[in-house]
Amino acid sequence: MMPHENASANTAQAPLHVVILAAGQGSRMKSDKPKVLQTLCGQPMIFHVLNAAAHLQPAQIHVVYGHLGEALQAGVAAWQAGAQHTINWVLQAKQGGTGDAVRHAMPGIPEHARVLVLYGDAPALSEATLRRLMASATSADANSTGFAALVADVPEPGSLGRVKLSAPESPISGPRSVLQIIEAKDADAETLRLRTVNTGVLCASAALLRAHSALLKPNNVQGELYLTDIFASCAAQSMPATAVFCSDAQEGFGANDAWELAQLERYLQLRQVRALCVQGLRVADPLRVDVRGSLQIGRDVEFDVNVLIEGQVSLGDGVRIGAFCRIQDCQLAAGTVVHSHCELTGVITTGPCKIGPFARLRPGTELAAGSQIGNFVETKKARFGPGSKASHLSYLGDATIGSQVNIGAGTITCNYDGVNKFETIIEDGAFIGSNSNLVAPIRIGAFATIGAGSTLNQDAPAGQLTLARSKAITLPAWKRPKKR
Ligand code: UD1
Ligand code: CA
Repeated sequence: MMPHENASANTAQAPLHVVILAAGQGSRMKSDKPKVLQTLCGQPMIFHVLNAAAHLQPAQIHVVYGHLGEALQAGVAAWQAGAQHTINWVLQAKQGGTGDAVRHAMPGIPEHARVLVLYGDAPALSEATLRRLMASATSADANSTGFAALVADVPEPGSLGRVKLSAPESPISGPRSVLQIIEAKDADAETLRLRTVNTGVLCASAALLRAHSALLKPNNVQGELYLTDIFASCAAQSMPATAVFCSDAQEGFGANDAWELAQLERYLQLRQVRALCVQGLRVADPLRVDVRGSLQIGRDVEFDVNVLIEGQVSLGDGVRIGAFCRIQDCQLAAGTVVHSHCELTGVITTGPCKIGPFARLRPGTELAAGSQIGNFVETKKARFGPGSKASHLSYLGDATIGSQVNIGAGTITCNYDGVNKFETIIEDGAFIGSNSNLVAPIRIGAFATIGAGSTLNQDAPAGQLTLARSKAITLPAWKRPKKR
């Protein structure tokens, strides 16, 4: 059967199979890790590609792997754990080129499928661009060949494959076809001057890919099977690919070394911050915000400089984050203010409250409306009721604190005996004097007052003053020693 006879693959109904090429070595990264596991926006690079693929709801994702295969599979297990899709791993034991890699994947792909080829090291492609590419390849238009390539115009095409295009139908626009793609290493001086380059991403019917990848020959300086050679062979059979241009050339390309990786990180960060600003986020400096995960925001959320967001974070209306804060896996209610230099992990606030500056709030910290955590206070599994305050220099762990409690400077919940952890309960309205040690398990009754400097290892009754303090004495006859 000739590839173009497979009409069903030209429709959007044909099942989508995504092939991610990831067998390359990435030696210029100078790393012991596989290139596609290098971190980008807090995740391995290939996770971005897998997420983009998963968003397209494919029938199957295939990953072609080879170099450092076990490390790659181990790294991708974390993605797999949280994903709806399973991966069909395709081993390409010897790197024979991109055409060879796709050939290896073809046996797992049904004839009536459409195939999207992505690179594991090109993690910046937007869903919109991929959908535009697929739409072009699956257009119901009678002229559609069911084949489209993602290309870009760049000022410095360097080592990228050069794309020879048909003349535009009209002087202004109109779809253009790919006549040939020539690798830079194989190109003559005139071809090298072309500014339109191949991203490597393409969408085609499985039938076309199978038929034309079978024809590939390693007739090139690298002695590899170039996937890019299918463009000329398809054009020769009057089935050229449609060229689809990236809206932003940078999104089509990956990172080959650590410098390019750093630039890609900045590019993706800036793109995220821009999207957040469009949603209303106010930032002091878009270059000094990093989101390594996902961020949901309400209205009038403000960031001062150098804010780092990790994991899943949601910030309600009017939340303000001061300079130099790291916020990881937190849900902060409307009106929460985090002053500068705070580290928050796994924190929930349920109403407007104040945190910092210089506070460290660890997982299980929950703050109700009107509560305050001040400087040099560390909390862990500590629940603060409405209006309760720990303003300075405390460690509060495994503690349940009622409403309107005042915790004096230097208060420590001694929650750990070296083996087990114990709970501290401080009831509503209690006042804990400065520099108190509360040896857990312990309960401080409602409206109890604890005298400053106390070390308590038993419960304090409600409404009374309890103190455990050695009595001060004064020695009237004592004189300072004199220098001999
Ligand atoms: C390829 C394209 C080039 C394009 C460029 C964009 C070919 C022949 N060339 O060149 O036109 O401009 O990408 O970045 O396709 N891979 C395998 N198995 C292999 C070889 C490669 O899985 O045997 C994977 C790599 O891991 C990588 C991708 O394919 O993810 C591209 O391979 P790479 O060697 O980087 O291709 P380039 O020479 O850069
Ligand atoms: Ca490359």
